[in-house]
Amino acid sequence: MKVIVTKDKYAGGKATFDIFAEALKQGAKVLGLATGSTPLTFYQEVVTSSLDFSDVISINLDEYVGLAPDNPQSYHYFMQKHLFDAKPFKACYLPDGLTQDPATFCQQYDQLMLDHPIDVQLLGIGQNGHIAFNEPGTPFNLGTHEVQLTESTIKANARFFNEISEVPKTAICMGIKNIMAAKKIVLLAFGTEKAHAVKQLVEGTITEAIPATVLQRHHDVTVICDEAAAAELK
Ligand code: GLP
Repeated sequence: MKVIVTKDKYAGGKATFDIFAEALKQGAKVLGLATGSTPLTFYQEVVTSSLDFSDVISINLDEYVGLAPDNPQSYHYFMQKHLFDAKPFKACYLPDGLTQDPATFCQQYDQLMLDHPIDVQLLGIGQNGHIAFNEPGTPFNLGTHEVQLTESTIKANARFFNEISEVPKTAICMGIKNIMAAKKIVLLAFGTEKAHAVKQLVEGTITEAIPATVLQRHHDVTVICDEAAAAELK
């Protein structure tokens, strides 16, 4: 696992941009994308760049159950606003939060990633060490699935909603098995509140109790964090 410590989230966004730009230059055609506040400085770099995605497919990590794509709190909306409006892709896939048949949808999403293996996967990290919405205790061998969000994740994400009661209780997300199948993984973490999770991710014991620790088993992971998120590293 390679760790790059940058001064702040802006330099982190730039460092992430450089990795993706290089991967595209080398022929990457499928990008695994993420939401949350963390990737915003990266997306900002992308939208102001000359990079062209008209031949690239994106596959997003997760979506809340019950939110329509035009709901401003949905991850569909987030991606549209922060990336896709400015940079059209050949095709963009996100889990369907309104599916009436989550089990079948999850199988189809797994198949999508078998048909289009992810070249570079972008990740954030939750304060409790979750990746995508794979909460503590999620088996490492799970594919796309519907997940019950923990109280701490609901609380952390409530800042994007008018009130905490509006935060959906479940989501559909890629499993750790899907994430680990990506050829290259870039995880971003900014701010003091991520420092403990970053320490566990890089130096902790591999355990399903802290999902991000599984990344120690992947052969090509780059962690980009700012000084605040790196503060607990040895
Ligand atoms: C949510 C998302 C994750 C994201 C995490 C951290 O739980 N499903 O993909 O990594 O939040 O979010 P933030 O970047 O806003 O701290």
